[in-house]
Amino acid sequence: MDWGLRNRLSRIIKPDTGHTVMLAVDHGYFLGPISKLEDPAKTIEPLLPYADAIMPTRGVLRTSINPHINTPIVLRVSGGNSIVGKNLADEGITTSIEDAIRLNVAAMALSIYVGTEYEHQTLLNLSKLVNEGEKYGIPVLAVTAVGKELAKRDARYLALCCRIAAELGAHFVKTYYCEGFEKVSGGCPVPLVIAGGPKLETELDALKMAYNAIQEGAVGVDMGRNIWQSEHPVAMIKAIRSIIHENATVKEAHKLFNSIKKSRKKAA
Ligand code: 5RP
Repeated sequence: MDWGLRNRLSRIIKPDTGHTVMLAVDHGYFLGPISKLEDPAKTIEPLLPYADAIMPTRGVLRTSINPHINTPIVLRVSGGNSIVGKNLADEGITTSIEDAIRLNVAAMALSIYVGTEYEHQTLLNLSKLVNEGEKYGIPVLAVTAVGKELAKRDARYLALCCRIAAELGAHFVKTYYCEGFEKVSGGCPVPLVIAGGPKLETELDALKMAYNAIQEGAVGVDMGRNIWQSEHPVAMIKAIRSIIHENATVKEAHKLFNSIKKSRKKAA
């Protein structure tokens, strides 16, 4: 791996802990203005100090994120689909490498849809993006998307997706947490981060998921809805950080969540 590429990756996955808390805010690219992300700037700004990296599209980056920030950007560069369209898996590359460079990104992110009609197309998208990324020293995050078929999120399927992504040259991979996650992490030779998925019933559930993922081989999270759809997003991202970077247990992280929640309520 070239120096520039390694340097960019180490801005995202922190060398002191080997872990990362990425904040995903790219959902609008196929879901539109979903709850709590209607005004991206309002959602993102208070969370930025606690995110090791942020994952927007170029539209949200240009319109809603202050260019003075130092937080590394993992730019979503795939799309062309929507939740009401014919097939969620039908994605292409939406952003040129020149634009990614202009935006000074630390990495580029793209979804693959293994096992769908668009498997071949999205895997070739990934290969093309890795070729471009390698040319300029920009790492690529492959997102193992499942579209609407949530039932597919088992270890066997996710291990297949993650391994294929790594074989095609992805420098790190984002996938879902699942039962038997060691099978997924054990078969993937590049770092893995987990998505949070749709908002879980309680914050405790999301903290448990982050804890289990770290114990079972993930290097961190690239979490969105379970942070910013919480009634207490700052408390939530801080609690997640304590698990990812400070070895907190679920109980400790939950206690931290509750105490920050209380103190922020008092201050308001
Ligand atoms: C969509 C994505 C999203 O960024 C992602 O799913 C992460 O956010 P969340 O934690 O809300 O699931 O990559 O394909």
